[in-house]
Amino acid sequence: MGSSALLTVVLAGALLWISAIHADSKDDGKLLCTCENLKGTCVNGTCRGDICFYTWVNGDEERGCFSAMHAMEQCMTSFRRFFVHCCKKDHCNALTTPPPNINGVTTTTPPELSRPELWITVSLLLLIMTASVCGLVLFLCFRCASSKKEPPEIHDVAMLPNGNDPTYGVIFDEFCTSGSGTGLPYLVQRTMARQISLVKCVGKGRYGEVWRGTWMGESVAVKIFSSRDEHSWFRETEIYNTVQLRHDNILGFIASDMTSKNSSTQLWLVTHFHEPGSLYDFLQNNSLEPESCLRMCLSVACGLVHLHTEIVSSQEKPAIAHRDLKSRNILVKRNGQCCIADLGLAVIHSQSHDYLDVGNNPRVGTKRYMAPEVLDETIHMDVFESYKQTDIWALGLVFWEITRRTMVNGIVEEYRPPFFDLVPLDPSFEEMKKVVCVDQQRPCLHNRLHSHPILVAIVKIMKECWYQSPPARLTALRVKKTLSKLDHDSDFSIDKLKQDV
Ligand code: ADE
Repeated sequence: MGSSALLTVVLAGALLWISAIHADSKDDGKLLCTCENLKGTCVNGTCRGDICFYTWVNGDEERGCFSAMHAMEQCMTSFRRFFVHCCKKDHCNALTTPPPNINGVTTTTPPELSRPELWITVSLLLLIMTASVCGLVLFLCFRCASSKKEPPEIHDVAMLPNGNDPTYGVIFDEFCTSGSGTGLPYLVQRTMARQISLVKCVGKGRYGEVWRGTWMGESVAVKIFSSRDEHSWFRETEIYNTVQLRHDNILGFIASDMTSKNSSTQLWLVTHFHEPGSLYDFLQNNSLEPESCLRMCLSVACGLVHLHTEIVSSQEKPAIAHRDLKSRNILVKRNGQCCIADLGLAVIHSQSHDYLDVGNNPRVGTKRYMAPEVLDETIHMDVFESYKQTDIWALGLVFWEITRRTMVNGIVEEYRPPFFDLVPLDPSFEEMKKVVCVDQQRPCLHNRLHSHPILVAIVKIMKECWYQSPPARLTALRVKKTLSKLDHDSDFSIDKLKQDV
């Protein structure tokens, strides 16, 4: 950097100081903030808000302002690949830069250089000194000091244990175990979402589209909601951002973003990407051994237990009922376990805080998976337990889909959706009601399932998920415990078998 550039920085600091003193910006009680790389609200590089922010996400910088609605806790965060700083003075975000040591340590202290008072003092000092004969010496000192600042990315890479780029998993795990919140700060979510490249459409439906995208060379899934399903985006975004939902068997959330494109609103939900896709897709082409069937069923049950359970410790979490559990809303992971996706219709309940939040989504669950009390409209919609009981009905149907594709004695059935033999494709509410409530039919079970101990146990569970009376059904926790025991027992018998051989 030449001395003229140095002078520019110095003058900019001085000008900022003068304008900060004279600016008549608080007429409406709002701050004047510098904005940069911000679409929409930025006029001549300035915006008004309650808080000025600066974000640095993997090299991309953004400056702007937002209303006090956003909690300050969203603001002061620094990790390997992102840095957020907020402040409450006019143009206080103008000169913020990421700290030189973004290295995985949370810092709640804004970098020294982001304080305008400091800048002003240093600037004035430099101004006087530059005017003197010491200009050249100062320049050399400045260059020497700035050369000590390594670019954060180079520094980062050296900090990594094996020299690999951190995956998004690493970033989110760090953030989530830091106890600083439920996910990434909103500002980071937005910048991150805008750094994603869409690679391939992997699913399309009434809900919109799902794409495989890449962020920093990592695969991510991007669900682009159709405009008519905006309520689902709002609900899912709200839940992921307010509830601690990190669990192996719940689809991992990365970011939510709302953008405006050609005057239409684009709603994105960015999550972990699972190569095998949905359980529905997986079952079309794959059959299972009883042990894999058991592990798959157990993993879905574990996810459902996590959703259904209220936690009242420091990591508190309300109970959640899904309300649209089905094989298309479950993803298969590479390790053969599943995770539950789509919280767009979920209801939230907290006994300790005494609330039931059913949301305001006009969408209803999938008719094929609706429990009898939903179909005959006798469900108690003001009682949280009722929603959990409808999830259990659907869980039994998902288990049935998995067991059909499980090979016993060399026999396996084709994939079919529940009630395939009793209702047409895209059945109506009335068609489902006739089968499930009036005729009280249940999915048929192949004889082979009665000749393997694992499948005998799973069949028993399914039947107990399908009681007409909702309170008679098993709970998710009971299902999980029974399957866990079966899993341990089958490990034991396999070990024993190995010993006997
Ligand atoms: N299809 C829908 N969501 C997906 C995800 N997260 N990963 C892979 N395929 C998907």
